[in-house]
Amino acid sequence: MNRSKRFAILAERDINKETFVEPWPEAGLIVTDSPYDPHPSLRIDHATGKVIELDGKSRESFDALDTFIAEHGIDLSTAEEAMATPSLKLARMLADINVPAADIRRLVVGCTPAKLCDIMRHMNVLEMMMGLAKMRARRVPANQAHVTNKREHPALLAADAAEAVLRGFSEVETTVGVARYAPLNALAILIGSQTGPGGVLTQCSVEESLGLRIALKGLTSYAETLSVYGTERTFVDGDDTPWSKSFLAAAYASRGVKVRFTSGTGSEALMGHAEGCSMLYLEARCLAITRGAGSQGVQNGSISCIALPESLPGGVRAVLAENLLASMLGLEVASGNDALASHSAIRKAAKLMLQFIPGTDFIFSGYSAVPRRDNLFGGGNFDAEDFDDYNVLQRDMQVDGGVRPITEQEANDIRRHAALAIQAVYVELGFPPISDEEVNAAVYGHASEDMPMRDVVADLAAADRFLAGAQTVLDVVAALQQRGFDNTAANILEMGRQRVIGDYLQPAAIFKPQAQTATGARPVFRVSSAINGPNDYTGPGTGYRVEGKRWEEMQNLPQVKSPRDFIADQIGGSSPRLVEIGAAKTSVQREVILAVGPGFGSALNKTINGVDHEQVLEAILTGVAREGLTARIVKVYQSSDCAYIGYIGSQLSGSGIAIGLQSRGTTVIHKRGLARLNNLELFPQSPSLTLQTYELIGRNAARYAKGEPVKPVPVQVDNWARLRLIVKTALLHRRETDEVRDKPPAELLFNWEPDV
Ligand code: 5AD
Ligand code: CA
Repeated sequence: MNRSKRFAILAERDINKETFVEPWPEAGLIVTDSPYDPHPSLRIDHATGKVIELDGKSRESFDALDTFIAEHGIDLSTAEEAMATPSLKLARMLADINVPAADIRRLVVGCTPAKLCDIMRHMNVLEMMMGLAKMRARRVPANQAHVTNKREHPALLAADAAEAVLRGFSEVETTVGVARYAPLNALAILIGSQTGPGGVLTQCSVEESLGLRIALKGLTSYAETLSVYGTERTFVDGDDTPWSKSFLAAAYASRGVKVRFTSGTGSEALMGHAEGCSMLYLEARCLAITRGAGSQGVQNGSISCIALPESLPGGVRAVLAENLLASMLGLEVASGNDALASHSAIRKAAKLMLQFIPGTDFIFSGYSAVPRRDNLFGGGNFDAEDFDDYNVLQRDMQVDGGVRPITEQEANDIRRHAALAIQAVYVELGFPPISDEEVNAAVYGHASEDMPMRDVVADLAAADRFLAGAQTVLDVVAALQQRGFDNTAANILEMGRQRVIGDYLQPAAIFKPQAQTATGARPVFRVSSAINGPNDYTGPGTGYRVEGKRWEEMQNLPQVKSPRDFIADQIGGSSPRLVEIGAAKTSVQREVILAVGPGFGSALNKTINGVDHEQVLEAILTGVAREGLTARIVKVYQSSDCAYIGYIGSQLSGSGIAIGLQSRGTTVIHKRGLARLNNLELFPQSPSLTLQTYELIGRNAARYAKGEPVKPVPVQVDNWARLRLIVKTALLHRRETDEVRDKPPAELLFNWEPDV
């Protein structure tokens, strides 16, 4: 076969670096509707109040997951009504703005996992997005950030956490390359996250008992990676059961640490224990367990396994379905978009829209707020380099993605403050010192590679001592205060106080963005949760709307310019070399008319790419002269339209040939007798017209006038020009249009001697 160049180029595209496979149910490689998925069923023994049949299985053949779900995962008070309600009806309720979330939730908490999947079967992604907008727990969506770096540098971690908070993230989490760093990394992001306004929750994602110890020291305030799986054998491989996860969750919560489970499509297939079931069905089991274990929320949306559902048909839809299922059950949802999911920028942005547009409690369960290669969670799907894109998406759609634009100065300031704070704490707690050079690198650097090397052995020894010793978050507070970081100290202390209060254990709780407190004033963080700020969306005119201050903030990108001074370069005094000498007359000479727009050389004096109108005239007149003809210049007042200017010129021209020239530089060669919007040659791309082109245009016009054969002037086509310059084009055109008058064309005299 001959290779098509088109197909060869397609093959090189980013999208074709991905793997696409056909479903294979036996291997669990199917996102929904495996032939081995059970059919929904539920039977309750009313004498004992026990579930005796669950999704086609009777009690004797329950595995550990079925038992846990039957005991804890289904609200039996509504189960029979829910199971008797047709799935299609429940699906329609989800998509119907007139049905409030509570009416749906009351029923779906009584559904079995297979029934939950059956509801999803009836929904397309648009309907699911409507459902998610309504079922999301918290009224206002938020976002979570990942802050890690390859070198595990404390100053860089603190600076990045502080910037993440400034950018609007409500939770910041870190993890480790080397497990022993965990307490120091947790400390670094704690200090960073409480620099500035504070009130942001943090976690350090590590092995569960280590994670718990760090939390007990007061260094973290939420725990998210309590992983659950949809088959018994996957649990066994993880040395866990639904009950052990429940105990762990209770241990965290008892110390005021917010708990969120993690699950998501693909993990069971990845671990070889899918038992032939579809990914969504297994996830529905996970969600029943999560709810049964008393977790207030879940991080789902495939998370680290995202590439697996994405390799299969309907994968991205299934991931949305799992987010929706979790929200239906009343769980707070941190909806994935965290792990690197695609090589293709188009695909990753398209997938994001499914959570971004409806809004979830955390649109990313980890937006990589650091450069991708520093992301120890396995590379972010969106990372620090995508911040500007993300802010533009919010502004484009008037959608709150939980992030705000910041200036470079603001970033530098807060980064420095955080890096200096951790430097101070390292001295006070007796850790290996952080030098001023390291602080500077953390403020201005891009990534790990920009950081000076540290003594890894000494840092790890300090980490071990810190973990084993008696020092807690209170020593950190004291150290900060000792060194004059009063605001950060007060914020960390307030985080501790909030732990005792426990309000942020409410479902979907975050702290409301704080106004920075005055130095010396005690900060008070206020919870925003599904209890005091429940999502009340029921269609247009209801629920959270992006408006007021928040909308202003989202619009106000540092890159935004005022259009008012956009064309300052083009506006100027009238050209002294261009003089009106009376009304333009028709003629019978063999001539070219050069018809200019009403602002030419007067209201405006340069083309869109800054070429002086006087020089443009010189070039065109030179071109005409080189062909042995002369040109008369006329100014058209009736219109600012290029074709019309050329058309009017041609009516006055003895030869019938005219050049129409708008002030911004757009040019046409017209011939009398042609329709107004027809022409001999058109040069619509004013930004690519040079003086050389204008001279050739003059030459060609003269050759048309002489009746000689003409080769059209070659022009450069720049497809980006319109995109880049459309605002300027519109404003220049508006300025020229302001000069339109109801008066006949005037003849102009052009003085060849500039200073006479
Ligand atoms: N199911 C369960 N747990 C998951 N994690 C990531 N993806 C999944 C999933 N699909 C957990 C793992 C990982 C952490 C970031 O989250 O424990 O280490
Ligand atoms: Ca996360």
